[in-house]
Amino acid sequence: RNGRLRAAPAGASMLELSAGLDHCFTCALCAELTIARPVMSERTTQIVIIGGGPSGLLLSQLLHKRGIQSVVLERKSKDYVLSRIRAGVLERGLLGLMKEAGIGSRMAREGFAHDGTLISYGDEMFRIDFKELTGHSIMVYGQTEVTRDLYDAREAMGGQIEYNVEDVEIHDLESNAATVTYRQDGQPHKISCDFVAGCDGYHGVSRKTIPSESRKEYEKLYPFGWLGILSRTPPVSHELIYANSERGFALCSMRSENLSRYYIQCDLSDRPEDWSDAAFWAELKRRLPPEVAEKMVTGPSIEKSIAPLRSFVSEPMRWGRLFLCGDAAHIVPPTGAKGLNTAASDVHYLYNGLRQFYETGDAAGIDGYSELALARVWKAERFSWWFTSLMHHFPENGDIGQKFQDAELDYLVHSEAG
Ligand code: APR
Repeated sequence: RNGRLRAAPAGASMLELSAGLDHCFTCALCAELTIARPVMSERTTQIVIIGGGPSGLLLSQLLHKRGIQSVVLERKSKDYVLSRIRAGVLERGLLGLMKEAGIGSRMAREGFAHDGTLISYGDEMFRIDFKELTGHSIMVYGQTEVTRDLYDAREAMGGQIEYNVEDVEIHDLESNAATVTYRQDGQPHKISCDFVAGCDGYHGVSRKTIPSESRKEYEKLYPFGWLGILSRTPPVSHELIYANSERGFALCSMRSENLSRYYIQCDLSDRPEDWSDAAFWAELKRRLPPEVAEKMVTGPSIEKSIAPLRSFVSEPMRWGRLFLCGDAAHIVPPTGAKGLNTAASDVHYLYNGLRQFYETGDAAGIDGYSELALARVWKAERFSWWFTSLMHHFPENGDIGQKFQDAELDYLVHSEAG
């Protein structure tokens, strides 16, 4: 290869030797290898969905139920995707889509409906009653469980999901049919399709396929992170507690009756190993009202990680035959749990646009996708930025910054409109 010979494992066939070869170089061996190169498998589908996270799986499941074919390409293994600990608060829009996708039954049994949330500042605590104010509750049910239910449903319906794919590339987005190429176990594959849904998260390939001169990215990085732990302990409160303290933000959250998820604002330079469990619990308690701290049940952490906080949007969300969905197009800081719910909003618009296109031939829904989805995305971005700004400690804002926050929280206590 490239003029250099590599030792071949004993008994290797020419096919095995050439698998994984990306380019043909001009060398004596090349001609022979070219002939022996594995044949690229080729197939056709309606939609190629890149990324098997919640956005991609939900879209694929909804489309399948309407008779629209898709193939999902996932870079990791199923076990790896299911081991990621992510958000756990589902809002009304996502709940409706899950029902439509036929995957709501386990959630209805095992999820926890919450009618409100608690907010503390200093020693004060007040409750926002979602049910009374908006007529709707939220559901506490882990994103991992949503993803597991989606995988089960896709498998039960014979959905096509390819795992461990590498080198995904999107081509021909401005022609009559797009193509997506990838490798799996060293073998090259090609799928021709009508459209590509880029559901491959912030680090995916889809967004970067849009030429840089045709997209604009907006980004804000926050000067702190969230240190989170998961522990097999009963949650300190049935409802979530968002805490603003002079020592920094804290969040008491839960996954089930014996599985708690807690977070504290930390320095960006901190590493999870810098924080012993004891140090974490002590700091968490200091940021909560005394009556909450006193009843906190602590225990060993079963997961500990630090996440940076970022606001990010890439516009447009459509380019030629490619549509971006979920984290591929936007990221919110986690305060207020809008990430997964905003991804669901994209899926809603794209699914309905594609349905309209395939069922009636009308392209209005897909043509308006980027504008519609972004209008919603920016509202979620604004909310997440506002709630992050209200609840975290910004040392650069000094004592007056804390006073502004206290006044705004006090306003929320007394204003129904707020
Ligand atoms: N090829 C194929 N798959 C890829 C590629 C690639 N080049 N790059 C990334 N992926 C896969 C990832 O392995 C992941 O499984 O795409 C998937 C993207 O999933 P998520 O990052 O979970 O994004 P999304 O499905 O949009 O989920 C919405 O809401 O609560 C938030 O951030 C949280 O993940 C959550 C998001």
